[in-house]
Amino acid sequence: MSARDTFGGGVAVITGAGSGIGAGLARHACRLGMSVMLADVDETAVISVRDELNASGATAEHAVCDVRDPDAMVALAERTYAGLGPVRLLVNNAGVEQFGYLWDTPVDNWRRVVDVNVNGVFHGIRAFLPKMIEATTPAWVWNLSSIGGVAVVPLQAPYIMSKHAILALTECLRLEVQLAGHEHIRVQAVLPGAVASNIFESAGGVDGVAGGDVNAAEAQRAAMLDIKADAMDPLAAAEVVFDQAAEDRFYLLTQPDYVGSAMAERAETLATQRAPMLRTKRRFDPAAQ
Ligand SMILES: NC(=O)c1ccc[n+]([C@@H]2O[C@H](COP(=O)([O-])OP(=O)(O)OC[C@H]3O[C@@H](n4cnc5c(N)ncnc54)[C@H](O)[C@@H]3O)[C@@H](O)[C@H]2O)c1
Repeated sequence: MSARDTFGGGVAVITGAGSGIGAGLARHACRLGMSVMLADVDETAVISVRDELNASGATAEHAVCDVRDPDAMVALAERTYAGLGPVRLLVNNAGVEQFGYLWDTPVDNWRRVVDVNVNGVFHGIRAFLPKMIEATTPAWVWNLSSIGGVAVVPLQAPYIMSKHAILALTECLRLEVQLAGHEHIRVQAVLPGAVASNIFESAGGVDGVAGGDVNAAEAQRAAMLDIKADAMDPLAAAEVVFDQAAEDRFYLLTQPDYVGSAMAERAETLATQRAPMLRTKRRFDPAAQ
């Protein structure tokens, strides 16, 4: 099935839709013919995406919604079903980064990553899945893991941990949906590699922590910003993700070679039971994709 056959109508709800990958997914969903509910904590950003999409002839609504708040996610679901109709695609996309040694990490920064990246996905599933199950029409759930969900990276431990968690959560959810016999629900894990966004700029660090190694944290941020220079355009990434989803794959990879090499390396590490090793940066080579 083509992406247009599969996602050519219906409603998509996307968290973190005001920027980066979420905005790219929203733009492509509209190009395919979907209506979109755009949720984000950044009101200015999400309104700007909404206005752009509506001006192009699409149907887009926005909600200022914090994925950390379970009641806000329930309210988002109520509003979406009442205003736009049954949800065909739920994208739990909102996510944040954190740089620095784990022992330097402020408790609030740790909580931010876990609350947004892990709890936010759970709140999305709790708010929407029962309605999607009840509707009995085909529906998709995409959770944003990462290449970081199959890699281990020093100086980003909270983020990496959160993305491993979301990959495992998504795999379990896929099995639970099958076990419960909800064949109309497709659960898929999105593993972006390097996609242009604001995630590294908005990441937490270790500033203000007495004795904290700010240099190490900021060097890691700089290294990630360096990778971003060659990163994929979010709209192109969205097109790849929608196409793979329509092919009914479980792992949706923005850059199959780049992310796939990290998956193979992870599998080999576990199979051979070797300890994690420091490595030079995994370079994203756009020409190799
Ligand atoms: N960009 C990449 O290369 C890359 C790679 C792997 C995984 N990812 C994942 O993709 C997802 C999107 O990230 P991005 O790179 O587009 O980042 P981004 O910073 O450009 O966009 C994230 C959006 O989420 C919103 N957000 C933050 N906290 C929120 C909250 N509590 N509630 C609602 N919205 C909130 C932000 O306001 C922002 O608009 C994240 O889950 C990230 O981990 C990105």
